[in-house]
Amino acid sequence: MSKHTIVLIPGDGIGPEVSSAARRVLDAAGFDAQWIEVPAGATAVEQGHGNVLPDLTIDAIKQHRIALKGPVTTPVGKGFKSVNVQLRQKLGLYAAVRPVRNMAGVKTWFDGVDMVIVRENTEGLYSGIENEITPGVVTSLKVATETACKRIARYAFKYALQRNRRKVTVFHKANIMKLTDGMFIACAKLVREQEFPGVDYEEMIIDAGCMKLVQDPTRFDILLMENLYGDLVSDLCAGLVGGLGVTPGANIGEDYAVFEAVHGSAPDIAGQNKANPLAMIISGVMMLNHIGETAIGEKIKAAYNAVIAEAKTTTRDLGGTAGTREFTDAIIAKLK
Ligand code: NAI
Repeated sequence: MSKHTIVLIPGDGIGPEVSSAARRVLDAAGFDAQWIEVPAGATAVEQGHGNVLPDLTIDAIKQHRIALKGPVTTPVGKGFKSVNVQLRQKLGLYAAVRPVRNMAGVKTWFDGVDMVIVRENTEGLYSGIENEITPGVVTSLKVATETACKRIARYAFKYALQRNRRKVTVFHKANIMKLTDGMFIACAKLVREQEFPGVDYEEMIIDAGCMKLVQDPTRFDILLMENLYGDLVSDLCAGLVGGLGVTPGANIGEDYAVFEAVHGSAPDIAGQNKANPLAMIISGVMMLNHIGETAIGEKIKAAYNAVIAEAKTTTRDLGGTAGTREFTDAIIAKLK
């Protein structure tokens, strides 16, 4: 019997390519796991499940608690409610944790970038609660609850303490959204004062924060923000360290954790052996760390760092010419 059981959701677009790459690397590194593959997204409908998020997928995660997930496509302006929003809400995955770091060998504007975005994952405008009041008049509801605001703030400060990080910066727009974003910063401030006085804290209006991020990202450490801002700032930050091909993520709740790259299903390059699997592989390493398999994680990290530093076999987004499979093979060849 395997030591671990991991739910694998290949997803849509480039999802199957990058998730099978991640699985191959983890297996080759000696990760002793049984993988339970379940569908989500357009793929689930195509397979005849009649739903983008079938019960069997939710049930598998509830049973085994840990999942590695590929991206899923969400139609723009119409169609079904985002699978990701449903998944995060149904499983209480309230914290999105997205490390943003320079990688040796990946050319970027800045050196020394080492931030972690902590994004509230269950409410805010991103929930997509929208109404048509009358033809030509529509609304979108932004929800903030004290419970969720305090919970995510606590997560960010605790994370800072556990990882020896010095500062939490909250991005907000409380000058305009005085109640919702006002509550977000009030909760962060209170949690910090009452429970984590040793962690530095600052608040920044998000527009100015974005400017400062692209001027000098090294001044930031942990970035705490509500759902939609976290979504947008994640891609901005990915651009600072080499793009969406290299930025991993985790969705963490009290009971379950789902690891996935920041990027989407990239329909423009799907099925062409062009996608960079690294973001998904590093998400896999985050999963290994989460379940205590840090030695295997370190081994994988050393292997992909070596391949990138050599700069001989990398995908096109990193300036190379290798395909998804060849890049993955090169990483596997470096595993010791
Ligand atoms: P995207 O992240 O899929 O792609 C943006 C750009 O980055 C594209 O040019 C794409 O080719 C490139 N890219 C993304 N990942 C890459 C990788 N691993 N290697 C090389 N290049 C990569 O964002 P887009 O196009 O806005 O969204 C496509 C679909 O993905 C939408 O339906 C969206 O809703 C969904 N999406 C799903 C997410 C998830 O499941 N977690 C997250 C973000 C978007």
